[in-house]
Amino acid sequence: MRIPLIAGNWKLHKTLDESAQLVRTLVADLADLHDREIVVAPVFTALATVAAAVNGSTLRLAAQNCYPATTGAYTGEVSPLLLKDVGCSYVIVGHSERRQLLGENDAFINQKAKACIAAGLKVILCIGETLVERETDRMLDVLNRQVSDGLNGISADEMAGVVIAYEPVWAIGTGVTASDEQAQETHAFVRGLLQGLYNPEIAATTRIIYGGSVKPNNIDGLMAQEDIDGALVGGASLKAEDFIRIARFV
Ligand code: PGA
Repeated sequence: MRIPLIAGNWKLHKTLDESAQLVRTLVADLADLHDREIVVAPVFTALATVAAAVNGSTLRLAAQNCYPATTGAYTGEVSPLLLKDVGCSYVIVGHSERRQLLGENDAFINQKAKACIAAGLKVILCIGETLVERETDRMLDVLNRQVSDGLNGISADEMAGVVIAYEPVWAIGTGVTASDEQAQETHAFVRGLLQGLYNPEIAATTRIIYGGSVKPNNIDGLMAQEDIDGALVGGASLKAEDFIRIARFV
């Protein structure tokens, strides 16, 4: 019922040539995978190049961020409309690096999510607790706030275009992954939140993907969990061999 989604978040990595080379390898090597969605999120300057490479393939393109306006006097920003125009299917919003480094809050992230949906783009909404929040028993409150504020004003119908990425901040780029059980438990909690905010059908059909040091050696265990519907992969998405193995989870 929930089609698995494996997304590579390239963050601030790769030149045009490097992006083109990586995506060409992925397109060629992953052409036979039809039972899952594979998404790549390059830097803005590589979107057009990567869009051309994924055109007609099984891969889909994502942007790593957007600004919640259509056009106007917003120097340096990029709108969902332009991301759709360049060939994106998805936009990542609320990544913890943007929350932490750029001070993005839930209300702003919610505006971005709504702007993407209005433009016909799908949203990967990132949530996740810090280590301190987990250790001081604030994890569930934090996730509850991030989910309910992040989805504020998004209708049940619009939820078809939303994927939630649970990324514990302490697991991102650290090499420490949540255990299969920790991740499953949290995903089940998030699914319960969706049931409360929407209804059992939305809870059952919304994809909740895991992120935080996903690697070739831990993807299969994570994907075997009932409530884990995919992965948002940072570091390991930069190497074709690793990302291909992750995309080929069994
Ligand atoms: P990581 O990053 O796989 O390098 O931990 C994941 C993410 O930030 O999406």
